[in-house]
Amino acid sequence: MKELVMIIRPEKLEDIKKILDEVHCGGMTISTVMGCGTQKGIADETVVNEIKGFKTTINLLPKVRIEVVVHEKKVEPIIASVREICATDHVGDGKIFIRNIEDAVRIRTGERGLKAL
Ligand SMILES: Nc1ncnc2c1ncn2[C@@H]1O[C@H](COP(=O)(O)OP(=O)(O)OP(=O)(O)O)[C@@H](O)[C@H]1O
Ligand SMILES: [Mg+2]
Repeated sequence: MKELVMIIRPEKLEDIKKILDEVHCGGMTISTVMGCGTQKGIADETVVNEIKGFKTTINLLPKVRIEVVVHEKKVEPIIASVREICATDHVGDGKIFIRNIEDAVRIRTGERGLKAL
């Protein structure tokens, strides 16, 4: 089992929900977060170039964080679909972190591992 933690632009959330539904992901957890990447929260590439060399403070932009635990065979198809929807060629498209999940428990039934997803 793998967990995908995807931090994306808020306006892409509805499309990502559809993708996750199509791959029968079992469940998902969504939060609204604030964050920044390498541009320290400056959204416009031209502005980034203009301020190059000057000291800037870190700005945080609103993002959506999606956590989903899936069978590892679903990881690459999800990444491909998310990139199709979210890659705009502009900075700030987001990031996907992938981690191993040891076990899971469906609390109601006691099912473990993949059966619990
Ligand atoms: N190394 C990181 N650790 C934790 N969160 C991160 C990291 N990098 C990015 N994020 C989160 O992902 C969001 C989107 O990052 P972003 O797409 O701007 O990454 P980037 O590395 O700057 O890539 P790009 O150059 O395409 O903008 C950030 O607002 C932040 O919430
Ligand atoms: Mg960035």
